[in-house]
Amino acid sequence: MCGITGYIGSGNAKDILLNGLEKLEYRGYDSAGIAVLNQAGVHVFKEKGRIADLRAAVDAGTAGHIGIGHTRWATHGVPSKENAHPHQSHSGRFTLVHNGVIENEAELKAVYLQDAAFQSETDTEVIVQLVEKFSKDMETEEAFVKTLRLLKGSYAIAMLDAETPDTIYAAKHKSPLLMGVGEGFHVVASDALAMIQYTDQFLELKDRDVVIVKKNNTVIYNLQGEVAKRDIYRAEWDTSDIEKGAYPHYMLKEIDEQPFVLRKIIQEYQGESGSLEIDDSVTAAILDADRIYIVACGTSYHAGLVGKQLIEKLAAIPVEVHLASEFCYNMPLLTEKPFFIFISQSGETADSRAVLVKVKEMNHPALVITNVPGSTLFREADFTLLLHAGPEIAVASTKAYTAQIAVLSILAYATGKAKGASTDLNLAKELGAAANAMETLCDDKEEFEHIAAEYLRAAFDCFFIGRSIDYYVGLEGALKLKEISYIQAEGFAGGELKHGTMALIEKETPVIALATQSYVNGSIRANVKEVAARGAHTCIISSTGLEAEGDRYVLPAVHEMLTPLVSVIPLQLIAYYAALHRGCDVDKPRNLAKSVTVE
Ligand code: F6R
Repeated sequence: MCGITGYIGSGNAKDILLNGLEKLEYRGYDSAGIAVLNQAGVHVFKEKGRIADLRAAVDAGTAGHIGIGHTRWATHGVPSKENAHPHQSHSGRFTLVHNGVIENEAELKAVYLQDAAFQSETDTEVIVQLVEKFSKDMETEEAFVKTLRLLKGSYAIAMLDAETPDTIYAAKHKSPLLMGVGEGFHVVASDALAMIQYTDQFLELKDRDVVIVKKNNTVIYNLQGEVAKRDIYRAEWDTSDIEKGAYPHYMLKEIDEQPFVLRKIIQEYQGESGSLEIDDSVTAAILDADRIYIVACGTSYHAGLVGKQLIEKLAAIPVEVHLASEFCYNMPLLTEKPFFIFISQSGETADSRAVLVKVKEMNHPALVITNVPGSTLFREADFTLLLHAGPEIAVASTKAYTAQIAVLSILAYATGKAKGASTDLNLAKELGAAANAMETLCDDKEEFEHIAAEYLRAAFDCFFIGRSIDYYVGLEGALKLKEISYIQAEGFAGGELKHGTMALIEKETPVIALATQSYVNGSIRANVKEVAARGAHTCIISSTGLEAEGDRYVLPAVHEMLTPLVSVIPLQLIAYYAALHRGCDVDKPRNLAKSVTVE
């Protein structure tokens, strides 16, 4: 949700900001802007649309060594040039970019800015107008901090003052912001990806930090004025991770990366004995609990549903799975000794973070499973497990989902072992076999393109059905399809159809059914017959060994508990090709953003 860049050094700020914004575009792509400061003053360029539109609108001759940039996912005010950031104070002295939501905007306007005329509908503008108002009686830094103290809500901010052209004023509360350190320059950015081509050294910023960023030095302090020392860490990723290479879309590249990610996970979690292991402190904390609560959003929530089944089967611990956005305001009755698992690709999702903050206030232990070391959730958890999936750029999550399931399977397995559960499962071997099966599926793209064309080219809607773990994968298949192709798609438990959904089945309604579980193979096939009898265009994807005549695709055999790792791949590819056939922007679907940092 919105991405921020800032640069101060000796390089060409304009290019660095635009390059950084391109890498952050997955966070929001409604509108974008940059501001560059030089001897002639501040030069602001804004455009509705993508970074490419902004790049075309920026005056190529704008030189300067300090600047800020923003790519927007609209929360307050429609996507437009007026609402695009940066926003400027009335006099034009202060220029500011902001990610987050200022909840007391109306109150601040009423108390401090009654006479001010606002140029945009955003909540951001109030910040920059307040700084200008306060700066009449004090230094910029003081005015900046005074403003921050008044703000309620979330913010990551970078600000320029035309009268102090050697400084970027930055601050963070609840929205992500990192500072990058290079030789003779500093950058600020919403995530390391934006600036990884310039530096891999980053400094973690915490909530309520204020950062005074200069070319060669920076000072960090909190809103009480206490100076803080923060450690520099090295971002794991490199520039090659964020290039598309020969792929037409990041989504396709990321689908193809799944077998390699799975093998990397096996390698990262393999102990000396060859068995897959999790740090003893994590399994001990889980075994000390009487129930696990998994909290996540979207695709990560769907991975959590699969995780529940894995943990209950392999470690015999009861698990509840909750949507973070619901949990926070509608908390279930907790058991006496709960253990929380947060699943988040980005490690920045505001809904998940809000629950984590609450859980920490209640002193319950929390594990975060994330793809991004150094992310907010990663830093705030008691325990962390990494996905090792490499950057996921496409808005639709693919490789993070399978990585989450793989790590959850290792967690379930290691916890079961620590509990003394006897099992003849060789998880490393089974995951290795799943990685090979994934590769086979990724090589069979043409077949999934045919299925997409045959079933979805003219479709208005599509249903995904399954039972047990296949139902959970169906939910994910439906989410993939709807978010990138805009076809109305829903996942249903096969047995539930007759309790209402069946009313939606008409002639040619596409119904994609998964049949990978032996113990429900008969019943899901009965459900398929029910919809076929009402005219549905059915497509059964089954597992080797469970197939029947007329199945549209048969998956390579993998361990029955691990089928989601492979059964999701056809669904990802069918969604990809359906979106492509409809001319949709696969990597950047409308109205969405990759990292949802507002609640
Ligand atoms: C869908 C998708 C989203 C995310 C959700 C949570 O393809 O990517 O549903 O899964 O926004 O994001 P993270 O995992 O970053 O917390």
